[in-house]
Amino acid sequence: MRNKLARFEDNKNTQNVIEEGKDLFNNIKGKWKSEYFKNDNPIILEIGCGCGKYTYSLATMFPNKNFIGVDIKGARIWFGSQKCLNNNIYNVAFLRTRIEHLDNFFAEDEIDEIIITFPDPRPKKSEAKKRLTSPRFLDLYKHIIKRDGIVYLKTDDFNLFEYTLYVIKAYNFKPIIFTTDLYSSNIDSYHKDIKTDYEEKYIEQGAKIKYLSFTFF
Ligand SMILES: C[S@@+](CC[C@H](N)C(=O)[O-])C[C@H]1O[C@@H](n2cnc3c(N)ncnc32)[C@H](O)[C@@H]1O
Repeated sequence: MRNKLARFEDNKNTQNVIEEGKDLFNNIKGKWKSEYFKNDNPIILEIGCGCGKYTYSLATMFPNKNFIGVDIKGARIWFGSQKCLNNNIYNVAFLRTRIEHLDNFFAEDEIDEIIITFPDPRPKKSEAKKRLTSPRFLDLYKHIIKRDGIVYLKTDDFNLFEYTLYVIKAYNFKPIIFTTDLYSSNIDSYHKDIKTDYEEKYIEQGAKIKYLSFTFF
């Protein structure tokens, strides 16, 4: 496998990785459909996509939607990026940035759906603000997602799941479904058809997957 530096070098020369130093990085807000995807299909964001397996799989399942995996770790994004290139999957981009800066890259209402996959649970109270479902992050998502756009969370961590439900209710957002055991539930969702890298690992260890969805309005 290519080492980290080689992967960074590949990313620099790869069209589906949007990162600092590339023209689109500073100039894509509000223009994903016209400048990148060149179509008018809905855009789905995966938050903290890691190696990009979920983003890749979704893009393969839904060729008429656009997918953007966001993560700060370029050496991880590389896997998804290369897989898409090798399989001629073009309805995908990988954005390398901190989630904190999402509003630099997306305009109001630009996003149709958001999926947050296995975010770091950050169990310490002092780290609560860093949880990707804390109020400041939800506020960012609220600004870029369409009014009726659905946000999904998949996690193995019960405390993060409970915390997220608490925030949703405290802010009067609208929960749609929630379960502490997705794969034993009768929920009909394409999110059951694919697993992220972390998800596979957690399931192997016997974890139950918690899942919820909500809208802001
Ligand atoms: C536990 S991993 C999960 C990866 C992937 N979603 C999966 O399920 O296999 C969490 C990912 O979120 C990314 N991440 C965490 N906090 C972030 C932040 N504030 N900005 C950007 N990426 C972040 C990490 O780099 C890491 O790749």
